[in-house]
Amino acid sequence: MRRILVTGSLGQIGSELVPALRERHGAQSVVASYHRTKPDVDDGLSEYLDCTDPQQIEDVVQRYDIGVIYHLAALLSAVAEAKPQAAWDVNMGSLHNVLEVARRNGCALFFPSSIGAFGPNTPKQGTPQDTIQRPNTIYGVTKVSGELLCDYYTTRYGIDTRGLRFPGLISHVTVPGGGTTDYAVDIFYQAIQHRRYTCFLRPDTRLDMMYMPDAVRAACDVMETDPTALKHRNAFNVTAMSITPEELAVEIRNHIPNFVMEYEVDPVRQAIADSWPQSMDDSEARAQWRWSPEFDLSRMTAEMLKKLRIKLT
Ligand code: SER
Repeated sequence: MRRILVTGSLGQIGSELVPALRERHGAQSVVASYHRTKPDVDDGLSEYLDCTDPQQIEDVVQRYDIGVIYHLAALLSAVAEAKPQAAWDVNMGSLHNVLEVARRNGCALFFPSSIGAFGPNTPKQGTPQDTIQRPNTIYGVTKVSGELLCDYYTTRYGIDTRGLRFPGLISHVTVPGGGTTDYAVDIFYQAIQHRRYTCFLRPDTRLDMMYMPDAVRAACDVMETDPTALKHRNAFNVTAMSITPEELAVEIRNHIPNFVMEYEVDPVRQAIADSWPQSMDDSEARAQWRWSPEFDLSRMTAEMLKKLRIKLT
């Protein structure tokens, strides 16, 4: 079997996807590529890779006989808004490079899109699979362009591209790096350590979220499903819960009764969140490849507190 390459392997998704793929396919079947930071421990194959350099991608793909690429290297929404040029180079430039390498070497590709691919005039509730997408953030522009570019490589060159529109991802493994949905991760650290959290979004800001184990399973399942059953290939809406900061605080109080939530709204991140859907309709993913999340708000909260208490003591 040809190997799997994961770019951005030390990032929010990669940190948990790599071990899951090694578990499913064997440690020697997965190459984890990193860029800025070197992994502390490595229990498998790993390589330095700058995805803005097409030759480096080609070298790694050929050296390791890569058949599937999970291209996760990207800037998140708030960082992208602070550095729009870098966001375009990293999010779009590297995707184009990876698609070209995939075309020349017959690789399949996974591309993570996002709720950020939608914009202010997208229907906010029950956001359909196929609907208006006019994002007003550079992150969203790169995500919607990425979805279209992947579709183009499939129809034009027959490359097997697949992908998901992830909601905010909640994880106890990595500290998130500059996303608009980061509050839903930070809140757990602060609740355990200080019993208090100052949220940068308004209490009623409703957004889709998902616990990382569901996200990892979704990424593996969509790549492993029989492609003849797929009507869409890229950008499947997937969600597990639609929650507000206030609802998350209430749920945390079921475990930590004296937890206090305060609000200091960051206008940049609030504007980004206000442009995104409140609850996506993921019925196409459920119908086409039997997507079904395991973690709702209460199960995710219990798990996050349990895992983080161990990590932080
Ligand atoms: N979690 C991401 C962000 O906030 C959305 O895809 O940037």
